[in-house]
Amino acid sequence: MTETPATPIAPLDERAAWFTADRFGLFVHWGVYSAAARHEWIRSREKLTEEQYQPYFEHFDPDLYDPVRWAEDAWNAGMRYFVITTKHHDGFCLFDSALTDYTSADTPHGRDLIAPMVEAFRARGFKVGFYYSLIDWHHPEFPVDLYHPQRDDADYIKATEGRDVTKYADYLHGQVRELLTNYGRVDLMWFDFSYSGRGFNAKGAPEWRSAELIALCRELQPHILVNNRLELGVGEGPDTGDFTTPEQVQPPGHENEFAGSAVPWEACQTLNGSWGYDRDNLDWKPPGMLVRMLLDTVSKGGNMLLNVGPTGRGEFDPRARAALAGVGEWMRLHEPAIRGAGRSAFVPPADCRYTQRGNRLYLQVLSWPMKHLHLAGLAGKVAYARFLHDHSEVKRVEYDPKNPFHNHLKGLPEGTLTLSLPMVAPAVEVPVVELILKD
Ligand code: GLC
Repeated sequence: MTETPATPIAPLDERAAWFTADRFGLFVHWGVYSAAARHEWIRSREKLTEEQYQPYFEHFDPDLYDPVRWAEDAWNAGMRYFVITTKHHDGFCLFDSALTDYTSADTPHGRDLIAPMVEAFRARGFKVGFYYSLIDWHHPEFPVDLYHPQRDDADYIKATEGRDVTKYADYLHGQVRELLTNYGRVDLMWFDFSYSGRGFNAKGAPEWRSAELIALCRELQPHILVNNRLELGVGEGPDTGDFTTPEQVQPPGHENEFAGSAVPWEACQTLNGSWGYDRDNLDWKPPGMLVRMLLDTVSKGGNMLLNVGPTGRGEFDPRARAALAGVGEWMRLHEPAIRGAGRSAFVPPADCRYTQRGNRLYLQVLSWPMKHLHLAGLAGKVAYARFLHDHSEVKRVEYDPKNPFHNHLKGLPEGTLTLSLPMVAPAVEVPVVELILKD
């Protein structure tokens, strides 16, 4: 699209300032698949027909849904924005759409589930994000493709040959218009996903009419951030996405440094490998691992979007709540090392990461060493050092060849600052030393 949008769009670094400061968000995958309780892709994985999938719709009744409680759990975990699946690949909508009756308002529950969540989370101080699936296995004009539940059903494919993806795109654009019109300010739009060239009836920007779609988002909510899954590229102005979305991986470094600027990135992560509620899954990540993922991400200049798959009754189950509480206990004491922090130009010692916020350099110690940590290039640059969790001083030593008590430090490269550490690590998931740099 070369047309200039009606409303001028602020530069990406201005629009994304809240996002790259917040650093930590809540992803929520919730839908009728939560009632099946075995992954959000079950309709495709098990090749279920519409009829076979229908019981989950007919029995979806989240009687314990309490978004105020969700907001409290997420806030206490240290999260400051959320992204909720307004519609997933199965086509089921958590919002009351005028364009379909395949929504939560048409289940026994009978209500729009997005509005109360937006209200509760916004009131608590969260930024609002909507996930919307570009894929739709329910829509009558969505052509069967390589991911569709009926991909191996020759008769079904034959019978649906006349489907018109343009009509489906009209529906998709109409629903995005509803989402960006009926819920007040929306800060972020998270589309999922494009797969041009992957095989049978693969779809991407041409089928979704992505250029038109992103223009619509920017017209309705000029401040909005849009992710990279529309297949339009990223970080090159309003016609492209605003951030990248590595999924279930820890990238080796900052993802997008090109054209002299760093385009935001956000790693989306699960608690147990599944996005939707998955009752029998045993792959729960311990809180310590989640904390390490978060700080590793921020040390590389990224955000982490951590997912919870609520149950069919509308609750975060006890395992999810325990994971959030574990991260929250660390975040309570270490927030300054995450919020508003990012990459540092200093190179950390082995088994450590740095995050930095202005003149505060945070040394995150992943594996506790015996007695000393040697920090390259920091001699003469640190005014004060302390543990972040309790503000107790951490003593510093700068090697002086003339000092007879420094004999044991011999051989350290020039410019090294040494920290004297207690033998026993502080009782937190990852200890952090706050180094206050001289101006
Ligand atoms: C994937 C999956 C999906 C999940 C998403 C989150 O693309 O299709 O189930 O919603 O990733 O990033």
